[in-house]
Amino acid sequence: MTSMTSRAIRIDRPGGPEELKLVEVSVGEPQAGEIRIRHKAVGLNYIDVYQRSGLYSLPLPLQLGMEAAGIVEAVGDGVTHLQAGDRAAYASQPPGSYCDLRVMPAKSVCKLPDAIDFETGAAMMLKGLTAQYLLRRTLPQGGLESGDFILFHAAAGGVGLIACQWARALGLHLIGTAGSDEKCALAKEHGAAHVINYAREDFVARVKEITGGKGVKAVYDSVGKDTFLKSLDCLGPFGLLANFGNASGKVEPLDLGLLAAKGSLYVSRPTLFTHIATREVTQRMADDLFGMVTSGQVKIRIDQRFALADVAEAHRSIEARKTTGCTVLTL
Ligand SMILES: NC(=O)c1ccc[n+]([C@@H]2O[C@H](COP(=O)([O-])OP(=O)(O)OC[C@H]3O[C@@H](n4cnc5c(N)ncnc54)[C@H](OP(=O)(O)O)[C@@H]3O)[C@@H](O)[C@H]2O)c1
Repeated sequence: MTSMTSRAIRIDRPGGPEELKLVEVSVGEPQAGEIRIRHKAVGLNYIDVYQRSGLYSLPLPLQLGMEAAGIVEAVGDGVTHLQAGDRAAYASQPPGSYCDLRVMPAKSVCKLPDAIDFETGAAMMLKGLTAQYLLRRTLPQGGLESGDFILFHAAAGGVGLIACQWARALGLHLIGTAGSDEKCALAKEHGAAHVINYAREDFVARVKEITGGKGVKAVYDSVGKDTFLKSLDCLGPFGLLANFGNASGKVEPLDLGLLAAKGSLYVSRPTLFTHIATREVTQRMADDLFGMVTSGQVKIRIDQRFALADVAEAHRSIEARKTTGCTVLTL
């Protein structure tokens, strides 16, 4: 058996960015259903912050990271959709993508089309598949049609800028919120029909104004604690609030009676990992995403690059709301 080592970023206990330690780990051969992949670039996601801080509690020590792209080096028994030498990319569980080389389940790894470079592949899988399942699979009663209004918070972020472009391609009028005028301008440039700077504007009042008092059919809310209740007030009757993140903290327990009082509303708390539970669905969703990217309808914007050893700096930036678009770790 070959013995290899890899640089990796690990935490031994939950905490701040200072807990992110660069270590050397040994990497073995892939077992049945697994591959070994040599990364070319690694994607950074807000979920990495939740896992590092302990908001999402996972067994320790923990090698962080949920997204990367690279070249498949070896495949275990039973893996038929990949072979050694393939260019590939993934959004995956378990965590562990902050490294040069790893062994991991093959199920969520997809062949990367030649037209998509490694950094783009690393930046887009978790965030792009999330935009896919939100706009294509997390819909209000009756679905969404061209011309419908939706509200998307943190529209200038990694998931946000992808969603702005995807929504435009679907003919949806996406109202995007962001924390500064510069971020609002970026979201608008990427396809948001309307933008609201929620740091200084009342987004409920602005949504009512934009929709002529009707409200939107769906709100996609990853900010959580600070926006959740106000997001309910942006919905029309039977509208859907999909709370898919907690950048400002976890949402407080909800009094279900509020949903009746505010118009027979629906609330969902989706996660990508339910959607990509099987190889077949993962590939279908990835093909949809690859099509949007290779056709140029969705451009993956990488605004921040950090060396693997500087990952703590990357975490500080994303938590301080200093980032826009996607962030990658270069190797
Ligand atoms: N459930 C799922 O399946 C799933 C999958 C992927 C991502 N997500 C969630 O989607 C969100 C976007 O992910 P991402 O990786 O693309 O991150 P991101 O949007 O690039 O960064 C998070 C953004 O949230 C906004 N924000 C609002 N309040 C904040 C606060 N108190 N602290 C920090 N940020 C705050 C900031 O934008 P402004 O300054 O413009 O407010 C910030 O840039 C995250 O909440 C993530 O957890 C969920």
